[in-house]
Amino acid sequence: MFAHMTMIEDIELMAVKPILKWAGGKSQMMNDLLKYVPNNFNKYIEPFVGGGALFFNMKHHNSVIADSNEELIITYSQIRDDVSAVINLLKTFENSEQFFYSIRALQVENLSATEIAARLIYLNKTCFNGLYRVNKKGEFNTPYGWRKGIFLNEQNLIAASNYLQYANIIHADYKATLEQYVETNDFIFIDPPYFPVGEYSDFKRYTKESFHLNDQIELAEYARLLVHMGCKVMLTNSNHPYVYELYDGFKFELIETKRLISSNPETRTGQDLIILGGM
Ligand SMILES: C[S@@+](CC[C@H](N)C(=O)[O-])C[C@H]1O[C@@H](n2cnc3c(N)ncnc32)[C@H](O)[C@@H]1O
Repeated sequence: MFAHMTMIEDIELMAVKPILKWAGGKSQMMNDLLKYVPNNFNKYIEPFVGGGALFFNMKHHNSVIADSNEELIITYSQIRDDVSAVINLLKTFENSEQFFYSIRALQVENLSATEIAARLIYLNKTCFNGLYRVNKKGEFNTPYGWRKGIFLNEQNLIAASNYLQYANIIHADYKATLEQYVETNDFIFIDPPYFPVGEYSDFKRYTKESFHLNDQIELAEYARLLVHMGCKVMLTNSNHPYVYELYDGFKFELIETKRLISSNPETRTGQDLIILGGM
C-alpha cells in the first residue's frame, strides 16, 4: 500500500513528456485541446493513442489507451512493466549510421518485448525527422537522421512508466476498444488518421492498414453513439467540408497548426478541427 501511495505522489510531482514523436502528434495543439477537457469524468479513453500527447498531459489515474499498431502498444506495455530492462538495453545502443541500419533491419517478430520497445524508441529518436513510417509490409523505413541529440531520456522513461501504471494498454481496432471499455461519463479523445485534404496527404501510413472514407463514416456513427451513452467526446480531424457534414450537430473549433510530419516547410502549416460532443 505504501508503495502505491508513493507512486501516486510521483505521478503528480513528476513531469512526463510523450516518449515518442508520432505523425499527427498533438503537442502543438495542446493548449487548445486542454481547454475542452471536462472537469469531471470517469475514465479517460484514447482509442487512437499514437504518441499520446494529450494522455501524457492529463495525469489522469484511470485511463484506457489503445492503438492498432502492435509495436507501439508493446512498447508502452513494456515501459510500464519493465522500464529498467528497456533502459539497460538502450544504454548499449549507439547513435551511428551503421548501428541505426543494423537495428532497423531486425525482424520485429524475432524480438522480445524489451527489444521491440528499445528498438522503436531508438529508431524514433535517431531517424530522419523523427517520423514513424512503414512500407506496405509494415516495416519501418525512415532513413538515418544524422541527429546529434541523446536518444535515451532515462528520467522521462521512468516518469512515463510510473504514469502508465494507471493505464489499461490495449492492442485493438478502435471499435473493439470502444465496445469493450466505454461507460457513461467517460471522456473519450478520438484522434484518428485524418480525412485527406491534399493530393499527397500521407496521413494514413501509420500502420499497414489504411483508414478509408467508409472508416470515417463509421467513426462518426460511433461518436454519435458515445454521446447518446452519456459520454463526453472530443475528436480531431482535418478542416474539410465533408467532416462538418459527418459531425453535423457537434460543436467545432478550427485551429491553425504547424505540421511536424512534413520535412518540407511549405507543407507544414495546416488547420485542424476540434469536434466536441456531449459537453
Ligand atoms: C493521428 S495518430 C494519433 C496521434 C496522437 N493522438 C498523438 O498525439 O501523437 C493516429 C493513430 O491511430 C492508429 N490507428 C489507425 N487506424 C486505427 C484503427 N482502426 N484503430 C485503432 N488505431 C488506429 C495509428 O496507428 C496511429 O497511431
